[in-house]
Amino acid sequence: MIIAIDGPAGSGKSTLAKELSKRLGVPYLETGLLYRAVGYLCLKGKSRCDDVESTVKSLDVLEVKVDVEGTRVFYEGNDISGKLNDERVGKLASQVATIPEFREKINDLFRNLVKGKSAVVEGRDAGTHIFPNAELKFFITASPEERAKRRYNQLLKAGKEADYREILNAIVERDKRDSSRAKYPFRPAPDAIVIDTTGREVEEVLREVMERINELHS
Ligand code: C5P
Repeated sequence: MIIAIDGPAGSGKSTLAKELSKRLGVPYLETGLLYRAVGYLCLKGKSRCDDVESTVKSLDVLEVKVDVEGTRVFYEGNDISGKLNDERVGKLASQVATIPEFREKINDLFRNLVKGKSAVVEGRDAGTHIFPNAELKFFITASPEERAKRRYNQLLKAGKEADYREILNAIVERDKRDSSRAKYPFRPAPDAIVIDTTGREVEEVLREVMERINELHS
């Protein structure tokens, strides 16, 4: 069974997907991590995020591992997953995401990674383009202000400097870029269950999602 979980940055979809995969004991494919890995290669001058051929080729030099613990990406034998949570990397990831040829190749890669298995697949287009036939699709959302607040608190907790206004503007800008690209714009699948997490605890949302999964099997 494939469970697709899509939503914008800061919606709570990653926390939910991670917890869900643990509870169900199935691999957790975090698609954004691979977009970010290519963004990272561009940042390091190993690829060019504005070039079709370069970005498509860069997928061949990355190695991906997916299991219940989550998704990890390796470059030249080193696990680079911990280096990808950087605003510059996120921006480059969202740039490379506008290239249709790149999306086609990365989507094939995602399908191969979980071929013949059950998985929780999290991203922006898991339920629309990667697995349009997924048994269950969730679209997790929250207001831009709430998402900015979560990111702001996350940065403060990590001992980093943060500016709420700047974060909010970046979120609004990223949403606009992701949803207005000519091909593969970011939007919920028509058959997705939409859950707004604004002002809600993770546990409460998780309960709602588990109920939906149980309904499917009853
Ligand atoms: O989810 P995350 O914030 O890590 O993704 C980084 C960027 O990669 C997103 O802003 C989006 O532009 C792109 N992305 C995408 N489709 C996915 C996953 C990520 O376009 N399935």
